[in-house]
Amino acid sequence: MANSKYEYVKSFEVEDEIALPNVIVVQLHGREFVRFCKAHELRKPYDEEALELMNSCAEFVQRKYPDILFSYGFNDEYSFVFKKKTKFYERRASKILSLVTSCFTSVFVDKWKEFFSERELKYPPSFSGRVIVCATVDVLQHYLAWRQHECYITNQYRACFWALVNQGRTEKEAEEILKDTKKQDQNEMLHQQFNINYNNLPKIFRWGSCVLLMEVEAIVKYDKDGCPITRLKKQISTVHSQDIARRTFWNQKPSLVKELGSFVEDIRRIDKDYVKYFQSKNKLMPYTWGVIRIDGCHFHKFADVHKFEKPNDEQALKLMNECAVGVLHEFREVIFSYGVSDEYSFILKRSSHLQRTHPSDIVSSVVSFFTSMYMMKWKAFFPLTDLVCQPSFDGRVVCYSSTDILRDYLSWRQVDCHINNQYNTCFWMLVKSGKSRSEAQQILKGTQSQEKMELLANNFGIDYNTIGQMLRLGSSAFWEEENGCSKVVVQHCNIIDDSFWEAHPYILA
Ligand code: GTP
Ligand code: MG
Repeated sequence: MANSKYEYVKSFEVEDEIALPNVIVVQLHGREFVRFCKAHELRKPYDEEALELMNSCAEFVQRKYPDILFSYGFNDEYSFVFKKKTKFYERRASKILSLVTSCFTSVFVDKWKEFFSERELKYPPSFSGRVIVCATVDVLQHYLAWRQHECYITNQYRACFWALVNQGRTEKEAEEILKDTKKQDQNEMLHQQFNINYNNLPKIFRWGSCVLLMEVEAIVKYDKDGCPITRLKKQISTVHSQDIARRTFWNQKPSLVKELGSFVEDIRRIDKDYVKYFQSKNKLMPYTWGVIRIDGCHFHKFADVHKFEKPNDEQALKLMNECAVGVLHEFREVIFSYGVSDEYSFILKRSSHLQRTHPSDIVSSVVSFFTSMYMMKWKAFFPLTDLVCQPSFDGRVVCYSSTDILRDYLSWRQVDCHINNQYNTCFWMLVKSGKSRSEAQQILKGTQSQEKMELLANNFGIDYNTIGQMLRLGSSAFWEEENGCSKVVVQHCNIIDDSFWEAHPYILA
């Protein structure tokens, strides 16, 4: 397809491949889950159904992406460990992070009903995440030990905190009482004041959960006397173990040892330097325009399965727009967005508050929220079509150093929209008129825009310029002031010419 003069903006995209021999770990956690738990009345200090739902999502993700060998989760957090030599999406960090986050989110929304049949989701749940790079198996071991230790101490604290609150203390008082208490003090408090033995609480709460490929005994058939015949079968399962970072656990799992290596020694103390490394963050370049572009994963298949109209399905595009409007409401740092087909670009306010946070947080949060909206709004746009599979999106963030270059970025996307839409309109008209797909391709090979306009006009009586604006120009969603109040509007306008920007000078101010 033709290249446009704007394509140079692609050179701003940075490579983020995680080279071998590093092990890739993706860590996710719920965004604003305190609010989510309150709104959905989850039980405290732990809600077993919610934890089971998280585990079920992790199992799904691991089945979908077999390069993930092991995952560990507790509370609203999950970490996914890839096999060392994975080639998953060429080991590109943002692609891997966004896909895992998106997949986890869509399954979470999908399975919600399975675990909470009586409770409607009140708003889209979302997760944010980052990639932890482990240079050696020792670093990975420290990471796992650190997370499981965190599980233990936060949950012991929560057990005490909610016991105090249930006894009649305010949350503030409970916080005050627990300030500076040690593990041992909390244990005693639980025991003496509340008659709770922390060690008797469910393992899922105290130790967290691991998902891995296990050999389990499965019934394959029954003999003539009705007795079951079993065989060892490999199956992705969830287990709860106290010692995920110890040799006794890890070194007995042949698949983990083979693909990631064995643990040489047990960890006596979690090294502070390691924790500092795990928590380290970088930030987006200041005073630049950050653009998060998300794109539907394998949407050609998703469109086929859900019988989207060709070449454009208005409902599908409107659903994308609705999700973008949701993103603008949720992330007030997003000032403008532009979408076409299965992609959407979100422009962050220059040196916004978000830009001071980790780029991974921004990308994963936006991708996750968008996916969640897509799942929750699906029925409103496709009331007669059930979701056969969950959608997922990938995302990346790129910084553009000047407003002119940002405008060229947007022009690049709109030119792309025009080129693709014109081609697809011709292609599907030819196919609908009886040509085979390869004949249609042959006819269109090397044709310029003008020739395509003529083909449509002469063969099918279609004036290309009268085709719906949403299809020709894509969609822009942005905040607009109207009678003194601001609201998000969706328009289908030319964003290449100056006139749009002159009429909306505040957007890129
Ligand atoms: P990856 O993004 O690489 O995972 O592949 P993809 O299959 O999503 O393809 P890509 O993002 O390059 O292109 C988007 C694809 O989504 C199009 O080629 C179409 O097949 C499909 N698609 C998007 N919108 C529509 C629509 O409105 N109608 C139909 N029929 N298909 C659509
Ligand atoms: Mg796509």
